[in-house]
Amino acid sequence: MKTTSRSFSRAALASAFLATSLGVSLVLATSAAGAASTLGAAAAQTGRYFGTAVSAGKLGDSTYVNILNREFNMVTAENEMKWDATEPNRGQFSYGRGDQILNQAVSNGKRVRGHALLWHQQEPGWAQRMEGSDLRQAMMNHVTQVATHYKGKIYAWDVVNEAFADGGSGGRRDSNLQRTGNDWIEAAFRAARAADPAAKLCYNDYNTDGINAKSTGIYNMIRDFKARGVPIDCVGIQSHLTNSAPGDYQANLQRFADLGVEVQITELDIAGANQANAYAAVTRACLAVARCAGITVWGIRDTDSWRTGENPLLFDGNGNKKAAYNSVLDALNAATPSTTTTPTTPTTPTTPTTPTTPTTPTTPNPGGCTASVSLNSWNGGFVATVKVTAGGTALSGWRVTTGLPGGAAVTNAWSATNSGTTGSVTWSNVSYNGNVAAGQSTEFGFQGTGSAQGMSATCAAS
Ligand code: XIL
Repeated sequence: MKTTSRSFSRAALASAFLATSLGVSLVLATSAAGAASTLGAAAAQTGRYFGTAVSAGKLGDSTYVNILNREFNMVTAENEMKWDATEPNRGQFSYGRGDQILNQAVSNGKRVRGHALLWHQQEPGWAQRMEGSDLRQAMMNHVTQVATHYKGKIYAWDVVNEAFADGGSGGRRDSNLQRTGNDWIEAAFRAARAADPAAKLCYNDYNTDGINAKSTGIYNMIRDFKARGVPIDCVGIQSHLTNSAPGDYQANLQRFADLGVEVQITELDIAGANQANAYAAVTRACLAVARCAGITVWGIRDTDSWRTGENPLLFDGNGNKKAAYNSVLDALNAATPSTTTTPTTPTTPTTPTTPTTPTTPTTPNPGGCTASVSLNSWNGGFVATVKVTAGGTALSGWRVTTGLPGGAAVTNAWSATNSGTTGSVTWSNVSYNGNVAAGQSTEFGFQGTGSAQGMSATCAAS
């Protein structure tokens, strides 16, 4: 296994453990009305997701799969969609294990983050031995092939992972990828957009948790990309932490959000004695930033973690919930949905587009529910996000009927099941989002071909 140098200080961690003989204390929160009992459901009530990294080799472990299916509504392949896994020989693609993770997720109503198209680590050996224009061509072909294979199925891709240097330079890290020319990152984003226009495209990195030289270098790159129309939709803040998040963690998320990109916490794990508090602080920071779309933890049980022996996750080795789990769940349930804006960031398609027009055909229904649609359209396709809001009484199930214009067809959906794909389509809640407290909302979405401009949506309690 290759390793990167990280900012974890094992010495600091050890002394923190020695100094804290009492360990963590569990904060008991009074359950608010409508409090959800799983991470995914609680996050969904705020319009966000809660995800985990998944390893294909563990999908036969029933403890692991039970927790996965119960708690999480977003999945990242821990290794199976990386370059060495998907293109072990040049031009020879291997999607078996990545597909296994994707299919398990989708068939259980979860969405998938793609990780990662280009990274200087876990490059296949043949690519490690390449340089220059030959490598550049292989890189772009890899992006195109993999994004095309998963087209329409990925919520967001980490297009480029960990391209910035640690330390004070704020510049790029040296790698054979970087040596193909400084424009390799934007070339990769353009290739990914062309291959899968519906996926949000993210830049993902670590040691970017606070405002520092490295995160500022990335901030400047994204600002430049937005100014020049390079397609980028999101930034991934990995958040491999020890003891606490930096004091300016939320301010850092906010400054990226203010550039107009979605912020995603992509690989959260926190070691150390202050773990439960630190997990709550990270959760609250995401909830306080409207464009923070969700949190992914990097594994399920401590024994699944890549940080062997550091126990940085939410479940212990037996699959029991830890204090950190309860602090995250309580923080999610404490969020007030009405003050939390749903983070639906319009993506920036490269092809000439119909401008993104939010349509809001709402049919008031005091005892039932209303549905409102926001559309992100491009030539030949769209993604619709539908917000279901309960009226004066809580819902224990809902049904939304959308009227699609002629020529439009649904190709893929999340967080609802549909009957039909064209014309009048009926959507029903899935197991984790049928209960909606009075006045509160949940969301589902779907992707389609054709134009959905003018689509109607009505909601009924079921
Ligand atoms: C790690 C995996 O968890 C390990 O199983 C693998 O051996 C190495 O990679 N940043 C990333 C992730 O973007 O892909 C890394 O995952 C952890 C650091």
